[in-house]
Amino acid sequence: MNEAILTARGVRKTFMSGDRRLEVLAGVDLDVAAGESVSIRGESGSGKSTLLQLLAGLDAPDAGTLAWAGESDTGTARRGRFLGIVFQSFYLIPELNARENVLMARRILGPIDAAARKRADDLLAKVGLAERAKHLSSQLSGGERQRVAVARALMNSPRLILADEPTGNLDERTGDAVIELLLGLCAETQTALVLVTHNAAHAQKTHRQLVLRSGILVHG
Ligand SMILES: Nc1ncnc2c1ncn2[C@@H]1O[C@H](COP(=O)(O)OP(=O)(O)O)[C@@H](O)[C@H]1O
Ligand SMILES: [Mg+2]
Repeated sequence: MNEAILTARGVRKTFMSGDRRLEVLAGVDLDVAAGESVSIRGESGSGKSTLLQLLAGLDAPDAGTLAWAGESDTGTARRGRFLGIVFQSFYLIPELNARENVLMARRILGPIDAAARKRADDLLAKVGLAERAKHLSSQLSGGERQRVAVARALMNSPRLILADEPTGNLDERTGDAVIELLLGLCAETQTALVLVTHNAAHAQKTHRQLVLRSGILVHG
């Protein structure tokens, strides 16, 4: 077994809605090994985004434990190095060009140097956007924006990428291409991937398929 990159044990999360308790996660267990890709499917509202927030260390569970490469604390700087995140709505900064958006990931860690600029340009070339480096993100198509977001997620050579329905806002062909790219780059760089998706064909492309149902992860 490869090194454990992400471990979740008995993770629970409940939201209060008025005076009603909504138990969204009821004891999630998950292990992701270095370089492994895992897909998570589940009905809308089943708690997939809630789970990814916890897996990213952006929110804390009510109960249970999480560990990233064996350590229980991410912290902002460590998270910036360890994790890349790809969202459904891209979340690029519209006033910045593609290269500057990719470099945003590195700015969290410190000043940008020539090597960082070269890496950003190399990644943009890898995602097929060498000619678009200076386009504002608002001038890019949805598929191109998501390619920039994939390059941004890879900028700091993370051990793990979390992707929350990354093709949810894309047409079918564009979405297929983004998934091929994401899986290909993760395989090439031995980056672990947790892919939340509604698309059964995309889910089948990962090493392992899970489903979030009634607040727990089961084999899909
Ligand atoms: N901050 C919150 N406060 C209250 N309820 C929430 C909050 N975040 C999510 N929920 C509820 O938790 C459930 C799961 O949401 P979510 O994780 O976004 O599901 P999914 O991503 O699978 O569609 C939904 O019923 C949603 O309304
Ligand atoms: Mg969601």
